[in-house]
Amino acid sequence: MDLPPRPELFDFHGVSMIPCFTDNWENYQNFQARPDDILIATYPKAGTTWVSYILDLLYFRESLEDRQTTIPIYERVPFLEICVPGLFSGKDQVDNLTTSPRLIKTHLPVQFVPKSFWEQNCRIIYVARNAKDNMVSFFHFDRMNKVEPDPGEWSSFFQRFLDGKMVFGSWYDHVNNWWKKKESYSNLHYMFFEDLVENTGKEIEKLCSFLGLSPSAEEVETLSSSVQFDNMKKDKMANFSTTPFMDFKISPFMRKGKVGDWKNHFTVAQNEAFDEDYKKKMTDPMLQFRTEV
Ligand code: PPS
Repeated sequence: MDLPPRPELFDFHGVSMIPCFTDNWENYQNFQARPDDILIATYPKAGTTWVSYILDLLYFRESLEDRQTTIPIYERVPFLEICVPGLFSGKDQVDNLTTSPRLIKTHLPVQFVPKSFWEQNCRIIYVARNAKDNMVSFFHFDRMNKVEPDPGEWSSFFQRFLDGKMVFGSWYDHVNNWWKKKESYSNLHYMFFEDLVENTGKEIEKLCSFLGLSPSAEEVETLSSSVQFDNMKKDKMANFSTTPFMDFKISPFMRKGKVGDWKNHFTVAQNEAFDEDYKKKMTDPMLQFRTEV
């Protein structure tokens, strides 16, 4: 497959973006949400696919038998803002979904979310991941995903992350602004990747309580084991191996799935600089991340 050159970041209403997430801006801003739509919102590489997969199984495992073995997760849970003009758009994919509820993925910062989601009081799940592991995961993703900007060397990527010059903008702004949104919008469930790693079953139970679902303890147990990293990694419909623009020889999409891999990447000096900068940017004492479990 012939791919265009890697895109360059540009400033879009104060957020670094690339064209495939802004080209369809007008259309997706006018997206008509339904009250039972569920939006899964994340900063890239924070656990989107994991939570999408959990939700898809919760809602459709029993009713739609072949779904999990024949339809890739990115079609089951379309990515609202993505667009390759003339080829496809996530918004059209969502509009064409026949399921109820519709499960929708977004990486948009909270201020870019189409207003219809708020007007319809949709359930929104935000998944956040500690900045250090999030950064490492994003670095390897940008190495292997040919439609992302060139990540360059680790040291320059590290600095760009601190400066917020990443696709979808600053991690710090993203997690903080979504966190603040909880004060004015109650239908928002804010969860953490680290908690999911530590105790998947407990997080599934919390999710179910938010969604108004009441699976049995046995169902939660079965679900929890089917969504463990090793199972998802070998599942072709979940591991993105069906996408043509990712080079798995460079790095797989399901890479490590761990908390603490940042220790294999950060130098001591980088860690100190990171922590110093973090203190200045993350001032809300209620929003706490764990960099190890
Ligand atoms: S994307 O491209 O933004 O949608 O990526 P996203 O799905 O948000 O994040 C990918 C990272 O999540 C890890 N992952 C998991 N970890 C543990 N358990 C399970 N089941 C799981 N599923 C996905 C995936 O491996 C990526 O993290 P890294 O650290 O790169 O391995």
